[in-house]
Amino acid sequence: MEVKNVKGTHDIIGEEANAYTSVESLMKTVAELYAYHEVRPPVLEHSEVFIRGVGESSDVVRKEMYDFLDKGGRSLTLRPEFTAGIMRLVVQNKLYATNELPIKLYYLGPVFRYERPQLGRYRQFNQFGVESIGHASPTNDVDVIALAYTILESLGLENLTLKINTLGDEESRNSYRDALKKYFASHIDNMCEDCKSRFELNPLRILDCKVEEDRPIINKAPRIKDYLSSSSKERFVKVLSLLDTIGIKYEIDESLVRGLDYYSETVFEFHYQSQNGNNYGAIGAGGHYSNLMKELGGPEYPGIGFSLGVERIVSVLKDDNLLPDISSKLDLYVMPMCECVHGFAESVACELRASGYVTDMCYDQTKLGNMFKRATNKNAKYAVIIGEDEMKTNKLVLKDLETQEQKTLSVEEAIEFLDNEFDECHCEDHECECGCHDGHCSCHKGE
Ligand code: HAM
Repeated sequence: MEVKNVKGTHDIIGEEANAYTSVESLMKTVAELYAYHEVRPPVLEHSEVFIRGVGESSDVVRKEMYDFLDKGGRSLTLRPEFTAGIMRLVVQNKLYATNELPIKLYYLGPVFRYERPQLGRYRQFNQFGVESIGHASPTNDVDVIALAYTILESLGLENLTLKINTLGDEESRNSYRDALKKYFASHIDNMCEDCKSRFELNPLRILDCKVEEDRPIINKAPRIKDYLSSSSKERFVKVLSLLDTIGIKYEIDESLVRGLDYYSETVFEFHYQSQNGNNYGAIGAGGHYSNLMKELGGPEYPGIGFSLGVERIVSVLKDDNLLPDISSKLDLYVMPMCECVHGFAESVACELRASGYVTDMCYDQTKLGNMFKRATNKNAKYAVIIGEDEMKTNKLVLKDLETQEQKTLSVEEAIEFLDNEFDECHCEDHECECGCHDGHCSCHKGE
């Protein structure tokens, strides 16, 4: 019986894999411009990290964690998000003691949630994100939002919607929670089972309910803005005015509360509507947190961060034809004419690769005609033909597969010739369709 992939997971193959690489590398480059440094926490954490960090009342912890007992009886979890694990990493490695604050970290990798798979919703997906830890200023919030915005705009997503709200400080949330409890007390019997347990655990979570029949009740619930402390109100006004100053447009969304329990003050989400109308949900989201580090045994340092959903971003880029031309290019295809020259052919291939040329090789013994067919199928620009004569004279035959011109050259001469042919690319100044790579341009339009 054929073995299939696990429901909610997906294989990333060929040009799509190239698209992920190019999107992820742009994300890293922009984060580094904002002076963030990469960290790679493990995928596996003690379940406690997420139970204490993300919170017992969140759907993520209540219903979506891939948790299990390992052979030693420890309760472990495949990370359902990065932020709590990053905080564990910062506390355990005492990064707060040795670094200037804020500690600015970025991360990329797979995340696991047992959700119902649908458009843009997977059980294993990739997140790229940042956390800026140890600084509570509104300027830090805005710098983090600006970083997410810059990444998304640099990818070509221009009609972005940034939804923003504040959840206030602890004092604001406590009085808001009381108000929600009072309001929902008279409605809860008519709401879904999930809401009934949310009512007991944390009535704020009721606002995340996706059950259509519950929406009319939820829509009339009290709003956080009426329960904000004066310092939280002031803080939010400052964040919005800083966003105005740097020209980032936003929509205040009073219903935005986010599904993870650690948030306080600023919360935000990025949305993008593909031209074909596909709705993948938020393409990225984040917010400020005050108690997360303390909850995980560290000092009471605040932080702010965001995570971008790489799958959703690649999907909207694909829908709107915004993915860069990332088809794989093959510069050279090495063709050994007989078994006895395979060693020499392999060493020639290694030298060509060391000079920066994408080089593939025929690994079995077949007719020259078959090898040419393979080279053409692989879209190679040149064939490198090596027979016994070439091996004896330490040479190769280089054949341009478009013009059919060929020359006999030493490896050094071949590399010099190729360096001239694939001259430095000037594509940034000129329209170029050659799909140049590594600074090598094969179209010469820019010269
Ligand atoms: P989140 O909103 O749970 O936040 O996830 C962030 C992003 O991950 C979402 O906006 C979405 O693009 C993507 N995403 C979430 N679930 C799925 C799914 N099932 N399939 C595909 N993509 C998905 C967090 O994870 C927080 N840790 C963000 C954060 C960082 N807050 C502070 N720092």
